[in-house]
Amino acid sequence: MPITRHPPPAHAPGSTIGHLPHPRRASVPPLSKITCIEDLRLVAARRVPRMFYDYADSGSYTEGTYRANEADFQAIKLRQRVAVNMEGRSTRTTMVGQDVAMPVAIAPTGLTGMQHADGEILGAKAAKAFGIPFTLSTMSICSIEDIAEHTGRHPFWFQVYVMRDRDFIERLIDRAKAANCSALQLTLDLQILGQRHKDIKNGLSAPPRPSLANLIDLATKPRWCWGMLGTPRRSFGNIVGHAKDVGDLSSLSAWTAEQFDPRLHWGDVEWIKKRWGGKLILKGIMDAEDARLAVNSGADALIVSNHGGRQLDGAPSSIAALPGIAAAAGKAIEVWMDGGIRSGQDVLKARALGAQGTLIGRSFLYGLGAFGQAGVTRALEIIHKELDITMAFCGLTDINRVDASILLPGTYPT
Ligand code: GLV
Repeated sequence: MPITRHPPPAHAPGSTIGHLPHPRRASVPPLSKITCIEDLRLVAARRVPRMFYDYADSGSYTEGTYRANEADFQAIKLRQRVAVNMEGRSTRTTMVGQDVAMPVAIAPTGLTGMQHADGEILGAKAAKAFGIPFTLSTMSICSIEDIAEHTGRHPFWFQVYVMRDRDFIERLIDRAKAANCSALQLTLDLQILGQRHKDIKNGLSAPPRPSLANLIDLATKPRWCWGMLGTPRRSFGNIVGHAKDVGDLSSLSAWTAEQFDPRLHWGDVEWIKKRWGGKLILKGIMDAEDARLAVNSGADALIVSNHGGRQLDGAPSSIAALPGIAAAAGKAIEVWMDGGIRSGQDVLKARALGAQGTLIGRSFLYGLGAFGQAGVTRALEIIHKELDITMAFCGLTDINRVDASILLPGTYPT
């Protein structure tokens, strides 16, 4: 593993890396001038209410792991090859046997419908049109049924947390089956919630409380407010009206503490696998020992993930953990990763280090918050183009032939 220092992210105050002028000092650029994920982030920071922007763009405690996820990708160097035929390139591959236009799926992200009105529906539509999977979070604003209805029952993936109310989980799984979901992601790293300072300071809630600070902020986000006025979907669509004894759902941290089951164990994985009966993906594996347990569970894929640096601050970056976990898992299970992917180059590096697939959370949310469905499509186009072009510069034309030989020895984790 190379020794890397983790500088502040590109979007730290004073950074010059953002390719467009600072959003508060310039008008929002048209979509045609958006050329990288950072451009989308800057527009999202301007258009999305502060508490929801901060909810997405934060990590727990010092945010060290959150920053390492991005910085460790930067430290990995690629091998440039020349005079190789670059024609006829393909990024098509499979994730749990399903065809994908590139090895990227949209990650489950909580409160997506607060980044933009009907956010989950828009994300699912953009993913369907692009030919990649969309994952709906249990903690989404739009419901499982909303997504099925608005995508013509096109298969999507559903993510589930284990909660104390087991009947509710069983009903959720049954609803996902009825909605034609083609894989279930079981998140294993959120029995309790990591502390994200900004959420506490902002008084995060969905919908926002009408405090003076929130009203002042919302007054500067007319596009967002207009969208929200036009949709009935403003609370947790999978939960409200479905779970018994729902307490203070508007406070995510209070509700998580009350409902998420801190006693989750591998026996629960077995129970969920049986109840679901389809493709099962285990999310949140950061340790070789856990990878072996994931293999033993009979799941179809595992995701190397530190929850975007939002849970255990101080854990290694996902890309640093990937090779060790891929080695421990062997061929018995597909290994994917998420965390820190802000470009197609990152996708290529993850693939080179053993990830059959990757997931994007923030890169998707920035596009959504900036321009709705068109912004998500733009994010996917950007990542796809960067992946395709970089693969060609490395001398390959087929994503399925990418391996660690495209990386410069000594610059990547082993
Ligand atoms: C939920 O998944 C969160 O990270 O807040």
